[in-house]
Amino acid sequence: MHFERFGLERFFALHEHTVRFMLTASDPETLTINEVLALDGDLAAGLARFADLRLGYAEPRGSRPLREAIAALYGPAPTRADDILVCAGAQEPILLFALATLERGDEVIVQTPCYQSHLEVMRWAGATPIPCEVHEADAWTLDPDRVAALVTPRTKALVLNTPHNPTGATMSHEAQAALVALADRHGLYVLADEVYRGLELDVADRLPPWSNLYPRAVSLGALAKGWGLGGLRIGWCATRDATLLATLEALKDYTTICSPSPSEHLAEVALRHTDTLWTRTRARLASNIAAFEAFLARHESLSWIRPRGGTMGFLRIADPRGATAWCTDVLAKAGVLIAPGPLFGAPDTHARIGLGRADFTTALAALERAL
Ligand SMILES: Cc1ncc(COP(=O)(O)O)c(C=O)c1O
Repeated sequence: MHFERFGLERFFALHEHTVRFMLTASDPETLTINEVLALDGDLAAGLARFADLRLGYAEPRGSRPLREAIAALYGPAPTRADDILVCAGAQEPILLFALATLERGDEVIVQTPCYQSHLEVMRWAGATPIPCEVHEADAWTLDPDRVAALVTPRTKALVLNTPHNPTGATMSHEAQAALVALADRHGLYVLADEVYRGLELDVADRLPPWSNLYPRAVSLGALAKGWGLGGLRIGWCATRDATLLATLEALKDYTTICSPSPSEHLAEVALRHTDTLWTRTRARLASNIAAFEAFLARHESLSWIRPRGGTMGFLRIADPRGATAWCTDVLAKAGVLIAPGPLFGAPDTHARIGLGRADFTTALAALERAL
């Protein structure tokens, strides 16, 4: 099968673990196992329980306590533990969704620029992704009328992401309602990538999960982002379409079967402390954004639309050589890694700044020296 290499993940594979400063990560600062287990208040007891864990196969859907903890993020109703499938990060359910819902000849409208699997994986199922671009002039927001104009009799699904990677834009409540109505009118599935949910800088911008609003929506979540626990490889999808959930689960038998039980255990602990971890991450984002805006005030050739949510902002770089050459330059001169826009299918005028790490200001100082 022909497939396009995942530009961003290959770029990270090449540099992420050797570079001096990571100024482009989408995952915020992480925690150690000790820090996770200490969240419950008694580290020694937590470590003892963790060490006693049996290492057999876990439940294919994810353990019930873990799914209950995830369901709690969706409010008291209507998405429940029985509507959740625990997966290997959010990457796995993107694939499962494509395989479960799409056939040759289908069209899928995809919000772009995007995390590449939103486009690429849809092709593997034989479908044609139809990009619906967001633009800087609209503060990177998605216009539901532009989505509606792309619907044809072949459209099977919408793939949406808010807060948005790579721009940090959030969708309004009105736009969400209009898109739910649009999907309902045409009987479309919605893959709602909500991995940055909880990281809205203004809590009023937080949308209800799509799976609560619309039965054919599949909401994605992941511990990599708000909780900073990407190494656990725990994510999930949630849908109130029981037939679809059963198909997603049946497909998972061919990908990972079940999640690693040590990860499930740590995930359950972390989910009990969601408020603490989200609040910590949001506070770091706010202070890093302030530091970045002070930096922007000193550099006329750089600008951005202030992100409203998620862990990143999309920097405009006025350099005639393009953003990729600029990023290559700062990597060579200062060891600062920044991912250029084309890795997200965006023009070579922008690059993604990651805002969630503890060493942000040190990395920014290194960038400034290089400039
Ligand atoms: C929008 C989006 N969806 C999905 C993923 C994959 O998440 P995970 O690492 O949990 O598989 C990412 C990772 O960066 C992402 O940005």
